[in-house]
Amino acid sequence: MIQITQPGMLRLGVLASGRGSNFDAICAAIDRGDLQAKIEVLISDKADAAALEKASNRGIFARFIDPKAFADRECYESEIITTLRQAGAELVVLAGYMRLVGRVMLQNYRWRILNIHPALLPSFTGLHAQKQAVEYGVRFSGCTVHIVDEGMDTGPIIQQAVVPVYQYDDEDGLATRILEQEHKLYWQSLQLFAQGRVYLDGHKVIIQEKNKEEMA
Ligand code: GRF
Repeated sequence: MIQITQPGMLRLGVLASGRGSNFDAICAAIDRGDLQAKIEVLISDKADAAALEKASNRGIFARFIDPKAFADRECYESEIITTLRQAGAELVVLAGYMRLVGRVMLQNYRWRILNIHPALLPSFTGLHAQKQAVEYGVRFSGCTVHIVDEGMDTGPIIQQAVVPVYQYDDEDGLATRILEQEHKLYWQSLQLFAQGRVYLDGHKVIIQEKNKEEMA
């Protein structure tokens, strides 16, 4: 079994392409003292991502890295890796990052890249997961925090939260209720890493129980 992080203050690098509500929720958990972590850098592939401004406003180093400025994905990802390493990030948090992660990032941060997906994986991978769930007619959906691997939304699952799907739900209504759960689940999963409790056994994540002193 591999222990992914040792207990201690987590040093995070966040990648976001859009509005950054998950980024906000993670920052809020840090501010409240619920998550022992520091966000060292926020990187975006979109110049106009709201997440960039949100990070700057919080005094977090924020950098737009334009994929179009690089010859290929490997060069682009090498620049991301350089930025993450210089900032001292030990764990990478994808928070609405709308690109597939490639070989360079996976090799440099093996088992140390996390994502949140708005469905109960392995169901409804890829884009528009909430719409897929509504159209399929499932009774429950939710969200999943997982480790990123080579596939699309296929990596080892850390935690999931279940959200009921109502008969007359539409994509937006379901997405709103799932997002509320995302905003709790992501930082809670990150706190497991800060406590050094996350182990990988093949494709399975084992969360070590808290010991007695920690429970007191
Ligand atoms: C969330 O629904 C998340 O599950 C998905 O992308 C969306 C990001 O939203 N991966 P935000 O930018 O964090 O508000």
